[in-house]
Amino acid sequence: MATPTTGPNERRYWQNWDNGDAAARINQYWESSEEGWRQDLASDLVAHFRASEPLLEVGSGSGLIYKTLRDYGLVTNETYRGGDISERMLDIARRRAPDTRFDKLDIFALPFEDRSQPNVICIHVLQHLPSFEAAVAELVRVAGKKLYSASWFVEEEQDQTVFTDPAKDWNDQCFYNNYYSLPRFLKFLETHWGNAIQTVELTRFGGVNFGVTISFAEHVTRTNPLIAAPSATLPGAEKKTANVRRGYLRGETASLRPIESKDLSQLVEWRNQPETWAQFFNTSPLTEDGQAEWFKNLRSDKRRQLFVVTTPEGKAVGTVGLDTIDQLNQSAEIGNILIGDSSYRGKGLAQAAVSLLVDYCFERLNLRRLYLHVFEENAAARKVYEKCGFTVEGILREAKYADGKFKNVVIMSRLRAG
Ligand SMILES: CC(C)(COP(=O)(O)OP(=O)(O)OC[C@H]1O[C@@H](n2cnc3c(N)ncnc32)[C@H](O)[C@@H]1OP(=O)(O)O)[C@@H](O)C(=O)NCCC(=O)NCCS
Repeated sequence: MATPTTGPNERRYWQNWDNGDAAARINQYWESSEEGWRQDLASDLVAHFRASEPLLEVGSGSGLIYKTLRDYGLVTNETYRGGDISERMLDIARRRAPDTRFDKLDIFALPFEDRSQPNVICIHVLQHLPSFEAAVAELVRVAGKKLYSASWFVEEEQDQTVFTDPAKDWNDQCFYNNYYSLPRFLKFLETHWGNAIQTVELTRFGGVNFGVTISFAEHVTRTNPLIAAPSATLPGAEKKTANVRRGYLRGETASLRPIESKDLSQLVEWRNQPETWAQFFNTSPLTEDGQAEWFKNLRSDKRRQLFVVTTPEGKAVGTVGLDTIDQLNQSAEIGNILIGDSSYRGKGLAQAAVSLLVDYCFERLNLRRLYLHVFEENAAARKVYEKCGFTVEGILREAKYADGKFKNVVIMSRLRAG
């Protein structure tokens, strides 16, 4: 077995997967027990990448993730390229998908130019490394547009557990199993590439798994600070921007962040203001108890998302959201548009927030059609939607009863260009 020696992580025990029949046994274990998890992962990835875009998988194991992504229509044998350090894993992957390209790759010394791979994914590799920094630096270096990495992250400040597991069933192999600190991971990104990163989004799925999707700005050169210039000032360190924020979609006039339970009472207050309530289709006022239940359902419903609209300074002023995200038909209904703090109305915040939401839907969720329902008489909201590129599709005459009369409801939509 060729033992990789590159980088500061020589005790990388997963290379022992090439001993005996360890690779075959692990593959068997993955096949028999992790199908549901891979499906969950695939739907997360479908939300972030377009089907026609090339995707490099670093640490492709025995090709099972490729197979799931192919079944989901996210990749074809032409758009996907995978690689792993283990020859035996590669053998299994190549047998599983003979017409697909799987290469030998060392995550600490990837054989690619800076930013030469538009999209890179790295699934469940980091937690088996003694430290994540050198590997992440390589992934960031080669990823041009987006990097998605799923690992066992914890929300605490400290890495939680570091242990080697003799895993006797797999020929006495040793494996690192590290639960890395998510704040530490995000800080690492911000310190080195704060000016190159546009957004960082987190997804949680299944137990200890976190998916971290990083979108990069076009113009900034990136190198691996840990290999290229270990003692020099690290790229981005001199300009620590606040770009890395949990789940943030950032704009100049407004930003969006996912709603948290701490926002619920504010939401109830905003939505129950009489002039606001009049513009929504719910007939009874919201209650805090009801909101708690609603929030629980929201979190488990992948078809809905709600964002808090904030000012550039981070003050929460309203909401925008998505209902009925339909991946098959690539459409979603936009709703919950509200600038709740009326002193912030008329300043372009709703327009900025809806524009961010539209970009998010087209660029990240890979949706094609967005639509919404609005009372015909709601001139301010209609103006916002028109300015965001929505056009009227039709009028539902006297479709809703409110304030003692039947009112017309307008359906507006916007399609992704091209
Ligand atoms: C609709 C709403 C979200 C707009 O928020 P906002 O931040 O004030 O919106 P913006 O500042 O981005 O844009 C509002 C636009 O509507 C215009 N507008 C405001 N009142 C208007 C009126 N009565 N008639 C016509 N246009 C009006 C503004 O002039 C502005 O256009 P401009 O940029 O060309 O000047 C806000 O008024 C609100 O929360 N209303 C209550 C909830 C609601 O109606 N939600 C929509 C449900 S479908």
